[in-house]
Amino acid sequence: MSPSPDEPQIQRTVISSETAVMTSPAPTPLAFRQALGQFATGVTVITVEYEPGKIHGMTANAFASVSLDPLLILVCVDHRAHMLPYLVEQKRFGVAVLKEHQQAIAEFFAQPGQNEDIEDRLNIRFRHSHSGIPMLEDTLARLTCRVAASYVSGDHTIFLGEVGTVEISEGQPLLFFRGRYGQIGSSI
Ligand SMILES: Cc1cc2nc3c(=O)[nH]c(=O)nc-3n(C[C@H](O)[C@H](O)[C@H](O)COP(=O)(O)O)c2cc1C
Repeated sequence: MSPSPDEPQIQRTVISSETAVMTSPAPTPLAFRQALGQFATGVTVITVEYEPGKIHGMTANAFASVSLDPLLILVCVDHRAHMLPYLVEQKRFGVAVLKEHQQAIAEFFAQPGQNEDIEDRLNIRFRHSHSGIPMLEDTLARLTCRVAASYVSGDHTIFLGEVGTVEISEGQPLLFFRGRYGQIGSSI
């Protein structure tokens, strides 16, 4: 039976001693998103001071640890994001790992325009590191990074960040799974 247009067309490769390698068509972007959505992640907010006193934040879950020596992380940024030129120009950024009750903050920084009234209502506060990098306060972990390299990759750019400082706090993480927010122990 052929899949309905809404169903993901998952690529299957069949290999046996008697059959040749068979592949079905390449996955659609929807199938790709659905497959990657099965990978549960935490949620971060990337912050950059793009002008003196002006901080831009972006919710990101395409974040990963890369290397211990030197200390490197990566974050992938969409070419449509306002964040992209800020990272290219400033070359320094903060990463904050959100706590379980900070879904509203994740949603706020996943919208293009950032309204200061809502920022106040959500009690969003930033603090600068000694080297002047802004980080979101009251989060599960905070890192400061310097852009060590960047790689244009399809419609995103991968930024490698060399980690300067780390801080951790008590609490539980906000999760993202199958396009929804959740918490450890909750059914998402
Ligand atoms: C849970 C979640 C994770 C996201 N992860 C990323 C990401 O890793 N990279 C990215 O470029 N956009 C990501 N986005 C989308 C951006 O947060 C969103 O497009 C935002 O509006 C971009 O901000 P800007 O254009 O104001 O910089 C994510 C959104 C959500 C809700």
